[in-house]
Amino acid sequence: MRIVESLTGMRRLSRRLPRPLILVPTMGALHEGHLALVDHARCLAGRRGSTVVSIFVNPTQFGPREDFHKYPRPFKRDCSLLRERKCDVVFAPAPAEMYAPDASVTVNESTMAAAMCGTSRPGHFAGVCTVVTKLFNLVQPDSAVFGEKDFQQLAILRRMVRDLNIPVRIIGHPTVRESDGLALSSRNVYLSAEERKQAPLIQQALREAELKIRTQAVRRQALENWMRRRIERGSLAKVDYVVAVDPKTLQPKEPIRLPVLLAAAVFFGATRLIDNLLVE
Ligand code: PAF
Repeated sequence: MRIVESLTGMRRLSRRLPRPLILVPTMGALHEGHLALVDHARCLAGRRGSTVVSIFVNPTQFGPREDFHKYPRPFKRDCSLLRERKCDVVFAPAPAEMYAPDASVTVNESTMAAAMCGTSRPGHFAGVCTVVTKLFNLVQPDSAVFGEKDFQQLAILRRMVRDLNIPVRIIGHPTVRESDGLALSSRNVYLSAEERKQAPLIQQALREAELKIRTQAVRRQALENWMRRRIERGSLAKVDYVVAVDPKTLQPKEPIRLPVLLAAAVFFGATRLIDNLLVE
C-alpha cells in the first residue's frame, strides 16, 4: 500500500493506476462503517483495478464552533487498518497544500443543501462539495463510494456530478450499525456511557415511525412531532431536527407516501449524531 501526501504525486500516480479506480473519501478515524466502504470499493475494483482511500479532515466543512481541532486523527492506526483491507493507495494531503490561503472558489448546491443539516450547519455542504470536487480532480476516479448514513451528503453529491457533468459514478453503501442499532460514526467516541446508552433511541424512533407509516394514515407534522418525543424520551437527547422528506428532493413530504426518508440529527451534550431510514 502506498501513502501519498503531495497533490502532484497523486495526480501523477492516478494516471498510472490500473482501472477501474475506485475512491473512498474519508476524514480518517476509521471504523467498521468506513471499512465496509473500502471492502465494497475493493470488490468494485476487482483484482486488477485500484482502490484509493483519501484521509483529509476538511476544515471548510466545519463551522467555527464545531469540532475541527478536536476531530480524532489516528493516522497510523487508519493506515494499518487499510493495509489489512487491501487498499492500494492512501491519499493524505496536507491542509496547507489543499487550500491556497486566498482560495475563493467553492462548489455549492443550492436546493437540498439548505434543508436538514444545512439549517444548523450553514456552509457545511459547500465545504463538502468543494473538497469532493478537488479530490475527484486529483484522484480522477471512475467511481466513488459514500455511506448512506450521510444520506443528504450522498443526494447532494449525486446532484453535483449530474449538474457539473463530472464523470464519476457515485455509489451509496448501507449504514453499518452496532448490535443495538446505533449507526457507526467517528463521533460516537465522544459519547459518555449514559449518552451511549440513549443514542440507539434515534434509530428505534425511526423504525417505530416506519411501522406507523405502513399501518396507518399519518400527517407529516404529527409524525415528526411524534418522532421527536420518542427520541427525547432519552433525558440527554436534544433533537436538532427530525423530518419525513422525499428521498430524491429532500423536501417535506405531504401527504406521506412511499418512498419517504425519515432523518434525524440529535445532540447528546456537544455531540451531534445523525441517522436516517429510507421507507420504500
Ligand atoms: O463523509 C465524510 O467523511 C466527508 O464529508 C467527506 C465526504 C470525506 C468530505 O470531507
